[in-house]
Parts: sequence; structure tokens; C-alpha cells
Amino acid sequence: KKLKFGKSKPNRYVLVTLATIGCGKTTTSVGLANLFPELIEHIQNDNIQSPGKDKLVLAALEVLSRKPVVIMDKNNHKTVERKQIFDGFQRLNSTIPKSKLKFICLNFLQKPPKGDTELWNITKERVYNRGDSHQSIKVEKDGIGNAEKIMRGFISRFQPLNTSVEPDCNFDYIVELDAHQENSSLENMKKIVTALQNYIEDLDLKTPSETDYLKAFEKAKLYKPTFSKK
Ligand code: GTP
Repeated sequence: KKLKFGKSKPNRYVLVTLATIGCGKTTTSVGLANLFPELIEHIQNDNIQSPGKDKLVLAALEVLSRKPVVIMDKNNHKTVERKQIFDGFQRLNSTIPKSKLKFICLNFLQKPPKGDTELWNITKERVYNRGDSHQSIKVEKDGIGNAEKIMRGFISRFQPLNTSVEPDCNFDYIVELDAHQENSSLENMKKIVTALQNYIEDLDLKTPSETDYLKAFEKAKLYKPTFSKK
């Protein structure tokens, strides 16, 4: 299927999350898509059955044939995963001119997660409260011990953003976020909108009111995946 490339708003933006489990990637992304349904769409690694190397990139390209912004929601906590995204677009994109495809990193962690007790406590509590409302981490079914093990795995494998070398030097722009506060996803939504408004000229992102933000955030917190891997 050929992608149709818009003329009036020529650039396409790929927002790539960089985080560990429970940092609020999905809540932040769904919240943004709630605020700007015409412009932003969220795709999730967890919603792809047996994620092949190319599937998430192909899904992103499909979105970009319809909308200017796609958020690729995945931890991308290892450099090799970031590299796979850049390589995937290089190989699979045949419709968007390279100069018009921009990669923006949503960096949820300002310092390495290992030994960050505060982050551990908040993300563990969130994962615990989420229960079974996740595609693969089922706290009620499999227990919190299992979830903690998975979380620890991500933390120990984590490789921070380093924009001076490959692959992270391919990001056009970095949005610095935080996951430590109680309502970090609401704050992160605001930080991302402001950053996009400052960085992007060809997107008409209207400034949402406080009520708009709160509504989108509350709705995002109720998000339940319709797809389950278990
Ligand atoms: P994984 O997909 O497991 O890696 O997690 P994630 O980073 O996508 O986190 P997600 O958005 O699923 O958030 C985890 C849980 O915390 C969910 O139940 C959310 O509703 C909740 N949550 C996320 N952000 C916030 C926040 O800012 N405030 C509060 N109170 N809850 C939040």
C-alpha cells in the first residue's frame, strides 16, 4: 500500500519514548492523543502480537500516512532498540523525504534508574494498582513478585540517552521529562505540548486549557488495553 504524503503540513514527527516500566509512557501518550486526535496518534509495542523487528515501524509509517505525529510507546531502554527504530525507518520508509522526517525523544529518565528508590517506589505502586490492566504484566494473576522481576530486568538493562554518539545522535530534538511526581504524566503532557509548540512550526498545536489537560489526563488514566498477550 502506498502512503499518501500530505502537502500542506509537510514534516512528519516520530516521538520515541525512552523509559522503564511504570514511568507513564502510555498514560502520557494517550493523554496527548486525547488532546489532539487529529494530529497525534499513539501506537504501542504491547499491542503488537509477537513484535517482529519491523512491525512497530510499519505501524508508525501507516499512522504517518494519515497524521503528522506518531508516538511510539515502548521502553526503548537499550541503545539497540533505538537503533532498530532508526534503521527500520531507513529501510522501510519510501514515501517521506528523509529531510521531512523528524525524530523526537521523550526522555522520561533524567538519571539512571538503578538505585533510584523514589522512582522504584512510585513505579512499583503504579504497576501494582494497575492490576491486570496491561497486555502482558498481570499483577493479579501472576503476583507482584513477577512484575517486580520484570521491572528490575528493565532497570538493569537500561542504557541512558547519549546524543553525542550513534544511535541517539539521530534524534533531532529531545524533550526532557520526569517520572517522580504523583501526577508526572499530567506534567509530562504539558512539557511535551510546550516543547512541540516551541520546536515545530508546521503544526497547529493550540494551547489546551487547564481543564482540557485534566480531562485528557483523567481519561488516559482509565485507558485499558483491549488486547491481551495472556
Ligand atoms: P509499561 O507499559 O508497563 O511499561 O508502563 P507505562 O510506562 O506505559 O506506564 P502506564 O502509563 O501504563 O502507567 C502505569 C500505571 O500508572 C497506570 O495504571 C496509570 O493509570 C498510572 N499512572 C500513570 N501516570 C500517572 C500519573 O501521573 N498519576 C497517577 N496517579 N497515576 C498514573
